[in-house]
Amino acid sequence: HVFNHNVDATDKGEFRHYMMKEIYEQPKVIAACLEGRISDNKVLTDCFGVDSSFLKSVENVHIIACGTSYHAGMVAKYWIEDLANLPCTVEVASEYRYRKVAVPKDTLFLTLSQSGETADTLAALRKAKELGYLTSLAICNVPSSTLVRESALTLLTNAGAEIGVASTKAFTTQLTALLITSIAIASEKEALSAIKEAELVNSMRSLPAHIDEALKQDVAIKKVSDRFANKHNALFLGRGPMFPIALEGSLKLKEISYIHAEAYPAGELKHGPLALVDEDMPIITMVPHNSMLDKLKSNLQEVAARGGELYVFADKDAELQNTEGVIFTEVPKVDEILEPIVHTIPLQLLSYHVAVVKGTDVDQPRNLAKSVTVE
Ligand code: G6P
Repeated sequence: HVFNHNVDATDKGEFRHYMMKEIYEQPKVIAACLEGRISDNKVLTDCFGVDSSFLKSVENVHIIACGTSYHAGMVAKYWIEDLANLPCTVEVASEYRYRKVAVPKDTLFLTLSQSGETADTLAALRKAKELGYLTSLAICNVPSSTLVRESALTLLTNAGAEIGVASTKAFTTQLTALLITSIAIASEKEALSAIKEAELVNSMRSLPAHIDEALKQDVAIKKVSDRFANKHNALFLGRGPMFPIALEGSLKLKEISYIHAEAYPAGELKHGPLALVDEDMPIITMVPHNSMLDKLKSNLQEVAARGGELYVFADKDAELQNTEGVIFTEVPKVDEILEPIVHTIPLQLLSYHVAVVKGTDVDQPRNLAKSVTVE
């Protein structure tokens, strides 16, 4: 059930850039990531290559990664604490590897990496082995990588070769694999009822179709992106698991369009970044459909009142419309647990189109490498 990328991973086909090809591959590769991992009503017990009952002993989770993979890990913290009720910390590998780390008993060491060759992540794994974790699990896209070879357990993302330096399909398949892992842990820890597990698994099965639907906003987002051509700064806001998605959106924009972008949890706006808001500052917000909706709407009002230009991504039931200074783009309505994955799509498209408008080298941005194998 490995996605077949032999077709020709180096062929851009109908697309102008690898990044766009890879954005459009997401429905297919997410399906490949789910295949063989879930049944009708649960996560399969053999998805980590051994019986998943080892997860019964997990009391803590430490997630380590770099770049985009780190943002995927930040989303997983919300899922693991919410579904499995286990404490979870997430840290960039370059920090973890050089500090004294206190490891609680029965902690799972979880790494995330597209390439499986990132020097800092490998160094973190080697350090973790000295520290005495319960076990190490790698969520990785390259089966033959060093990370997979050196980790006790692996869950492959099956995204196929990713060539664009800005990570897209590797990120959404990491999130998919992390959701599988979070459900598996919650299930083994008996923190999740069979009914709830069946519901979650059922939602996951609809992911490829929802991603397809989200991609349909491509033309609308392309239009919006023209407005970014002369911008020098952008602010991304999100709450809950949408905060790491805001971070990922801002990273994509920085990486390929060279526009300075920052991301904040929406509730932190008032503690500083609000001072930056004026008519030249685009604010991009992913609006989740949950109990935080009204709080987020009031954050948006704070911005609008200061003349900031708002770009809002929300489903149609969020009742947000194009008004003076608010540019609304519709995102498919999905179960709350899937929102971080589905909301990633418009942000990928936005950064792609902005980069094209600006004429930068989309697939090979200046100063960056696909895989950072040296420190
Ligand atoms: C580089 C890439 C990023 C990537 C990061 C981590 O900086 O340009 O796109 O997220 O490395 O890579 P990994 O292969 O470990 O996920």
